[in-house]
Amino acid sequence: MDDSLRLETVEKTVLFVKKELSGAEGGHDWEHTYRVWRNACSIAKEEEADLFVVELGALLHDIADPKFHDGDENIGPEKAGGFLRSLALDDDIIEKVKAIVLHVSFKGGNYKSGYNSRELDVVRDADRLDAIGAIGIARAFNYGGFKNRSMYDPEMPPRLNMGPKEYRANTGPTINHFYEKLLRLKDMMNTNTGKRMAEERHRFMEGFVERFIDEWEGRK
Ligand code: ADP
Ligand code: NI
Repeated sequence: MDDSLRLETVEKTVLFVKKELSGAEGGHDWEHTYRVWRNACSIAKEEEADLFVVELGALLHDIADPKFHDGDENIGPEKAGGFLRSLALDDDIIEKVKAIVLHVSFKGGNYKSGYNSRELDVVRDADRLDAIGAIGIARAFNYGGFKNRSMYDPEMPPRLNMGPKEYRANTGPTINHFYEKLLRLKDMMNTNTGKRMAEERHRFMEGFVERFIDEWEGRK
């Protein structure tokens, strides 16, 4: 497949995903997909991974979140597959991209999927990176505000080791989410480039939480 056909395919995928995600909720909208796509390209360029599969996987990874489809894990991969077949791509590429869409999600942190590929590692890392650092902080407080959560409550300690169900039902303050999920993501990165980017975002977030609590108590 030549470069211009690849470029055209990526452009068509961008248009398709923008259309599919119009009206999506704030955490998984086109803007999130755009950032994951950019992260994924940065990682893929430094790792041994098929950039084309990575780009398509990143662009299509959130087109149908199971959370909003009665937990159905297959709608996203099926939609992605249908779209890619309409572009007459090789089956081999279509299957790799569908597998990324199926397996990328976080699932509260305790889920191990049987499938693996280098391209999946890259997209997973790219998706996780968007939950940490400055963007991660903004998303967490945006989510907390949307759900009308308190920002911080020293009397409600974080709950570690929640299963996927408790994780979804959890209504704790937003700062807890940093301990329950965001500050744990850097140790779950799969690629060296992802790890390096995560370290920097992690340090920024750690400094933020420390300072937030200092300011809360009037220490700074
Ligand atoms: P994903 O589908 O990527 O696992 P989620 O749907 O759990 O992500 O979350 C989407 C965004 O909202 C993320 O940036 C995440 O950190 C944030 N978020 C999820 N749950 C909470 C929470 N309880 N408090 C604050 N932010 C949250
Ligand atoms: Ni995502």
